[in-house]
Amino acid sequence: MVCLPPRLWTVLAGNLLLRTHHLMAQTQYWTSRGLIIHVEPDGSIVANASMSRPSIPMNAEHLLLLHAFKAAKGPEQAFDEVAPRMSREFFERLLAELVELDILVPVVNGGVDATQFLPASGLWTDLCEHYEMLRDTVRVNSYKSAIFQNVRGKVVAEIGAGTGILSILAAQAGATKVYAIEETELGSLAEEMFRAKRWTTASP
Ligand SMILES: C[S@@+](CC[C@H](N)C(=O)[O-])C[C@H]1O[C@@H](n2cnc3c(N)ncnc32)[C@H](O)[C@@H]1O
Repeated sequence: MVCLPPRLWTVLAGNLLLRTHHLMAQTQYWTSRGLIIHVEPDGSIVANASMSRPSIPMNAEHLLLLHAFKAAKGPEQAFDEVAPRMSREFFERLLAELVELDILVPVVNGGVDATQFLPASGLWTDLCEHYEMLRDTVRVNSYKSAIFQNVRGKVVAEIGAGTGILSILAAQAGATKVYAIEETELGSLAEEMFRAKRWTTASP
């Protein structure tokens, strides 16, 4: 197998396909639980809402909006807070961007609508990254020995199963049931591996 260097994470902002989304006055928004904001060596600010999605360049206005939404009950209240610094039109555009990027997540019936999220992309959708993890024998064998010492007779949930290698080890080590959870297309590959071993599989 030939692996190219890890793909540079695509810069999304400025290049968005905005999903249809109603910025309803009553809608509440949560900030993505996985949000990490950091400063790059060149001084630019980037945000990452999930490790399976590209980093997103942020500007001062985005940060202002995030701050306003932190305590706000909805867009109207958030707008009141930032109104001295930006127009309504600009506020709505920024809000649409942050929603589009899954940084602000609309709350519907007390929860989030996962079907609205951007599909996973970047690092973990790259088979080469998984190939490198699989051929790292120190890594795999360390997990293997921990799994064989701990999971016999237990129900195991592997969150972020990738190719399914650790779930397979858990089953081999005597787990009574294994849930392999993977958000990228790699999940289909893991399923194929489970089927090849004649294990019963159930996709969502
Ligand atoms: C470091 S890889 C590990 C893969 C596998 N467990 C292994 O050890 O070879 C992390 C995996 O977690 C998946 N992942 C990350 N966030 C996830 C989430 N919120 N739900 C499901 N899978 C997720 C990624 O797509 C990726 O395949």
